[in-house]
Amino acid sequence: MLSVLKHPLADHMITHLRDRKTKPATFRTLAYQLTLMLAIDATRDLATEEKAVETPLEPTTGRILSAQPIVVVAILRAGVSMVQPFLDIFPDVSVGYVGLERDHTTAVARNYYCKLPPLAGRRVFVVDPMLATGGSAAQAIDVVKQNGAVAPRLVCIIAAPEGVAEVARHHPDASVHVAVLDRALNERKYILPGLGDFGDRLYGT
Ligand code: PRP
Ligand code: URA
Repeated sequence: MLSVLKHPLADHMITHLRDRKTKPATFRTLAYQLTLMLAIDATRDLATEEKAVETPLEPTTGRILSAQPIVVVAILRAGVSMVQPFLDIFPDVSVGYVGLERDHTTAVARNYYCKLPPLAGRRVFVVDPMLATGGSAAQAIDVVKQNGAVAPRLVCIIAAPEGVAEVARHHPDASVHVAVLDRALNERKYILPGLGDFGDRLYGT
């Protein structure tokens, strides 16, 4: 399942994120704000339960989040930019990291690090801003499943159709939430129109 954010504010922020003149500080702020919107979209079916409260005027019943813990697994490096928005809006979040780096010539991702909290019985969100060939995301989802995650969700800012198809082929149970679906990959496996190398733009490297 693919879910694409449809909101004028998301369009506005993505356009500024794409702009080559956008500096790292603004880039980081835009990535934070877009991830907040994505986090809300990707969690719209979280379980809730009834709770009685008293307003200053009268008793009423509302709903609160049920106790199922959330885990955010960031794909290093660029995925780190998407962790804080989840931490800021959800009360109980654990964080894991999977280090994956694409080879500059083959675009095949190499796994160099993994540190995960317990995943069984938890709602797991794998976060990485760029879904290009889908190789990194498919590997990261493999890793979280091997560690107990069931039907993890992938949250990305920009996706290419090739990456969405690759993740669906390997992980038909994983839903994918993106802010925008771009046109295609170029011959070097960069997303078009995209925004270039997310990690480089985030960290000024
Ligand atoms: C980028 C991006 C994804 C990956 C996407 O990371 O953050 O992890 O490329 O490409 P794929 O879908 O073709 O696998 P990169 O490997 O450049 O590492 P970095 O975040 O450390 O810069
Ligand atoms: N990784 C990026 O950071 N950008 C792309 O366009 C593709 C992979």
